[in-house]
Amino acid sequence: MMELSATAFLWVKALHIISAIAWMAGLLYLPRLFVYHTEAKPGSELSETLKVMERRLLKFIMNPAMASSFLFGGLLLMTYGGSDWQDGWVHAKLVLVAGLLAAHMAMGRWRLEFAEDRNARSQTFYRIANEVPTLLMIGIVILVVVRPF
Ligand code: HEM
Repeated sequence: MMELSATAFLWVKALHIISAIAWMAGLLYLPRLFVYHTEAKPGSELSETLKVMERRLLKFIMNPAMASSFLFGGLLLMTYGGSDWQDGWVHAKLVLVAGLLAAHMAMGRWRLEFAEDRNARSQTFYRIANEVPTLLMIGIVILVVVRPF
């Protein structure tokens, strides 16, 4: 465990929430791009443009935002007086965060399939996939703010 002043703890928490918002923005936007991409003919100008947008969103926003969400979240977890590992909400939150991580990894694979014109999934599949991070985020925020158990 480590010591942080009350002010430093709040700064780390602010950076944590900023990172989590940026990560969520990418997790909600990328499947949207996949929905449009299923309608674009491979090799078309639209398909090539979407490939660039998907790669930049993942590499320059989602990956760094995920890393800093974990970094600052981890710092908060390791701080005296922060969260107590005994609290059920901490474990439940980390399980849902693991779900977000799995969604992020899956989106990385799907992006690669689109980049290689190998996508075989339907538009409906990506519309449903788009809802998963939303549901996880709702659970995470309720757990960390309300701390029901
Ligand atoms: C990536 C792994 C994550 C870890 C290890 C983590 C851990 C933590 C910890 C320990 C706190 C501080 C609780 C306290 O005040 O003592 C916290 C606060 C918070 N986390 Fe996370 N978190 C993670 C991801 C996320 C994600 C993905 C979201 C949103 C989708 C999120 C949203 C929040 C919010 C809103 C707070 C502030 C709650 C409050 O002050 O009332 N966290 N997090």
